Amino acid sequence: MDVNQIITELQQSMKPYRQDYETYASLPQVGRSREEILEVMRTLYTKEEHKWRDGYVSGAVYHGDQEHIDFQNQVYAINSQSNPLHFDVWPSGVKFEAEIVSMTANMLGAGQAGDEIVGTVTSGGTESILLAMKTYRDWGRDKKGIAQPEMIVPTTAHAAFDKASQYFDIKMVRIPVGDDFRADVEATRAAINPNTVVIVGSAPPFPHGIVDPIQELSELARSHGIGFHTDACLGGFILPWAEKLGYPVPPFDFRLPGVTSISADTHKYGYAAKGTSVVMYRGRELRHYQFYATTEWPGGLYFSPTLAGSRPGALSAACWAAMVSLGEQGYLDAARRILQTADTLKAGIRGIPELRLLGDPLFVIAFASDELDIYAVSDYLGKMGWSLNGLQLPPALHIALTVRHAQPGFAERLVVDLQEAVAYVKEHPGMQGSLTPVYGMTSNIYAKGAVAEFLKGLLDMAFEV
Ligand SMILES: Cc1ncc(COP(=O)(O)O)c(C=O)c1O
Repeated sequence: MDVNQIITELQQSMKPYRQDYETYASLPQVGRSREEILEVMRTLYTKEEHKWRDGYVSGAVYHGDQEHIDFQNQVYAINSQSNPLHFDVWPSGVKFEAEIVSMTANMLGAGQAGDEIVGTVTSGGTESILLAMKTYRDWGRDKKGIAQPEMIVPTTAHAAFDKASQYFDIKMVRIPVGDDFRADVEATRAAINPNTVVIVGSAPPFPHGIVDPIQELSELARSHGIGFHTDACLGGFILPWAEKLGYPVPPFDFRLPGVTSISADTHKYGYAAKGTSVVMYRGRELRHYQFYATTEWPGGLYFSPTLAGSRPGALSAACWAAMVSLGEQGYLDAARRILQTADTLKAGIRGIPELRLLGDPLFVIAFASDELDIYAVSDYLGKMGWSLNGLQLPPALHIALTVRHAQPGFAERLVVDLQEAVAYVKEHPGMQGSLTPVYGMTSNIYAKGAVAEFLKGLLDMAFEV
């Protein structure tokens, strides 16, 4: 398949409503009736619901039981006007956010940290990571006079670190991962220099779900007097419960003295509605480098904790409500079910000779093939309705298992479909997946820029009416 064909297919999948629904390039002269609008919403919801509700998507919706959704919606409706920027009007927002941070910190070892653990609520994993990196940049500048800050980041860490590097002009030094997909400690040691402000590790990284050697990495950071950030956006709300259930979880949280900050996403395995995450720091002094305050503005004294100014207080309320309604028992039960599903799925994949499980992950299950084009397997699965994530370097697929997948018979269904997809691709030698050429180009340094432009072109397309 050539790139033009890929673009046409992506365009169709991105804009399926162009034909059948009214398009508004400008405001309608007279507003449409609320009932008419709600009708459109309901129709689109129904069209899109099946895929995530029945577990055909990796990650994306982490809880999604109808009662839980209804409850989140009720809480949102009650709080839809709240803006934590105006804490005098909505002190309820202040209460919710302080308690979200405290509950999350205590889940992640604050009680045994030996220092006060503080934090803020953000809009998602990316904002938590952006803020943490900005914090270390400003800390390094202030405390050590570092003018050209550097961060050491494993290749498997989330793209948000690269975004932080670009946004905040922090040099990103990438270190490789070993054959076991864990960050290379010796390469990290060798990369440290006087400009290093922070080392990063993930618990776990998005691609393969294998927790980095956080203990060794954070000790390295501590011995050099620099920051260490654990990105637990994905694992922060499931690993503590996996540990309690007796699964092998390497240490990653504030119980490690070298861990100076953690990001953990309430809108993933925290089961809150989309739009919240928590970033935490060892001590208030560090958190002050995140905060913004100005005394110069004619609009008055202005201060805010995160990137946004006005913020959706209703999302913090929904997050607080999700945490308080589930409680430890709810999180433990969900983790148990997800991890059991993972065990069944891993055994099933191990039973397919053409597939190879990458490492021994807990709940993000990645697999590759030494014989077949794995993207062709992905395309075939796509035709069956599946949306697994395509990975590269090496080519692989993964599924992040959620409560949506922890239903009876799910893992077995996926294994049967995987068997069928593998058999089909095997019977059609030379079959190439639609994303194979695009991913193929990214390993060529000359084509990387072209692929990045292609992706930006897709974003242009997204905003065309
Ligand atoms: C390990 C990890 N970090 C950060 C993020 C970014 O989170 P968000 O998409 O909420 O910005 C993700 C998202 O999947 C992730 O898996």
